[in-house]
Amino acid sequence: MHVVANRLQLTLAILKPDCMACPHIVSEIRRLIINNGFLFVQTKIVKLSRPEAEEFYQIHQEKFFYNRLVTFMCSGPIGVHVLARDDAINTWRKLLGPTRVLRTIFEEPDSIRGRFGLTDTRNCAHGSDSEETAKQEINFFFPNLNIEKWKKEVGQFLKENGNVVYDEKLCEHIPQR
Ligand code: RTP
Ligand code: MG
Repeated sequence: MHVVANRLQLTLAILKPDCMACPHIVSEIRRLIINNGFLFVQTKIVKLSRPEAEEFYQIHQEKFFYNRLVTFMCSGPIGVHVLARDDAINTWRKLLGPTRVLRTIFEEPDSIRGRFGLTDTRNCAHGSDSEETAKQEINFFFPNLNIEKWKKEVGQFLKENGNVVYDEKLCEHIPQR
């Protein structure tokens, strides 16, 4: 598999507990991610504690939905993925579809949330909304990943027509140097 990388960007995708409870939906979303030209840079499956979920969604702490969001996000395992692609942040959010599932199932039925979301809270998956939040969110889950170094090294490798192979077990793409 060869990847075009002119404006390589990283984003954080999370498959939320509603999604992780359905293995066939997880498989379909991973397939969609790959078919849309993303690289899985890092993957882990974790269960957040309540304080961790509170910290991750701190930005929403004044919102009416904060408590139910945090309760939901620590209710079961989540699949956390660092994804790379040209324009990764917007491309992943476009695939996801709008936040509010109960509208999205009518307005964007082919999006991930339109197809698999259950409610406005249990909306299947998350995507970072800017470079700045992507950096913070990736750091939250993968403190050892040096984004700039990765972009420089792997970006260069991909430009030189480097080959990557997908390891299904790890759910990660491995550069073949
Ligand atoms: P996300 O952060 O998960 O990618 O979603 P988003 O940017 O599309 O939406 P955001 O405004 O950041 O909201 C974060 C998550 O809070 C839950 N939510 N519930 N009206 C509601 O009940 C409501 N609004 C938001 C969703 O789980 C949303 O993804
Ligand atoms: Mg958001």
